[in-house]
Amino acid sequence: MRLGKVMVVFGTRPEAIKMAPVIKELKKVADIETVVVVSAQHREMLDQVLQLFGIIPDYDLDLMKEKQDLYSITIGVLAGLKDIMEAEQPDLVLVHGDTTTTFAAALAAFYARIPVGHVEAGLRTRNKYSPYPEEMNRSLTGRLAELHFAPTDVSRENLLAESVASFKIWVTGNTVIDALIETVREGYRFDDSLQDIDLNNRLILVTTHRRENWGDHMRDIYAALLQLVEEFEDVEIVFPVHRNPTVKNLAEEMLGRRPRIHLMEPLEYETFANLMNSSYIVMTDSGGLQEEAPSLGKPVLVLRDTTERPEAIQAGTVQLVGTVQKNVYEAARRLLLDRSHYEKMAHAINPYGDGKAAIRIVEVVKDFLYVRIGAANLN
Ligand code: UD1
Ligand code: UDP
Repeated sequence: MRLGKVMVVFGTRPEAIKMAPVIKELKKVADIETVVVVSAQHREMLDQVLQLFGIIPDYDLDLMKEKQDLYSITIGVLAGLKDIMEAEQPDLVLVHGDTTTTFAAALAAFYARIPVGHVEAGLRTRNKYSPYPEEMNRSLTGRLAELHFAPTDVSRENLLAESVASFKIWVTGNTVIDALIETVREGYRFDDSLQDIDLNNRLILVTTHRRENWGDHMRDIYAALLQLVEEFEDVEIVFPVHRNPTVKNLAEEMLGRRPRIHLMEPLEYETFANLMNSSYIVMTDSGGLQEEAPSLGKPVLVLRDTTERPEAIQAGTVQLVGTVQKNVYEAARRLLLDRSHYEKMAHAINPYGDGKAAIRIVEVVKDFLYVRIGAANLN
């Protein structure tokens, strides 16, 4: 029996990593037709993930422009999806997380009166401008969604507090753990492009990209990194730099051509995830890394003032350090000097999932489509 058509829409690297397991599970269900649409709000960084997981989009809006702004992404997604929704008439649209593609796609689906399923629903800081614009993107997507796939009980509680009906929420775990389990292997051999990194040293893996950190906050973070490599001779900083010129230019200006600081192009997910597994500390303002690194037992210093992911902080593996140079430097220094403090933080915890999130999500999607067919037959 044909169950219906599910359209999966996403636009950036992390969405692609976290939707890849869902697409894989959906495609196993012969009775569901799966249509993949990418906004390509990211280009090269998205394509790296599509290639790794063998995803060939049915539609590609090819939106990315250098230094694009929030208006142009929103307008491009809305305009592009209008025609695609009309042509495809999906029974359900699945979006992920909190990017501008996510919100604009959910809005486009709502305009077409098509129900929305929100994967990674219910994360909140309750601060409209931190992270910006993600907190508002995910809140608004939550308002538009019919099905809410919350990764943890904390995110479920957040949705309940916003009066989302409990029967519309499923706690599934985070699909990033599905992707990570498939990708990380003990004894992974890195290719020659990373030969400059001495894996016998203590590696600090760094990523930064948050809009609210652009400018002085990022300067402070990078200054702290400089202090750390100067003080600790057995430390190497591995920093795959986001392609955004605002980030890239500053990173090159402050950290380029320095001993034991490796600036590089974004790494493909397999290399990156395995490098995380070989790291001593992770320092990041990313969302996804706050979920992945704890499950690999790596201490994470979060270079932000707020986080929507309190679970690993509670478990002691993640510390929210902000962006003030002194605080960033001192938090990392303590981890490098104090072995017992390090051991306390470096334990593997998995509040974000058991690797079966995508299976749970697709079960709910199947039930949703069955019920729709039943309701249509009654009419
Ligand atoms: C976006 C999301 C953010 C998510 C992040 C993941 C929004 C507003 N922001 O932020 O929520 O956490 O992705 O990385 O939705 N660029 C390239 N090549 C690429 C990707 C980006 O050159 O493959 C450059 C372009 O100049 C682009 C700029 O980076 O204009 C910014 O990209 P954009 O998607 O607008 O913002 P991000 O900071 O990546
Ligand atoms: N990542 C990657 N290559 C890199 C840096 C990060 O594949 O060079 C992965 C990382 O493992 C995580 C995701 O990209 O799954 C995080 O993306 P990002 O930090 O851009 O976005 P956020 O999670 O903050 O939305």
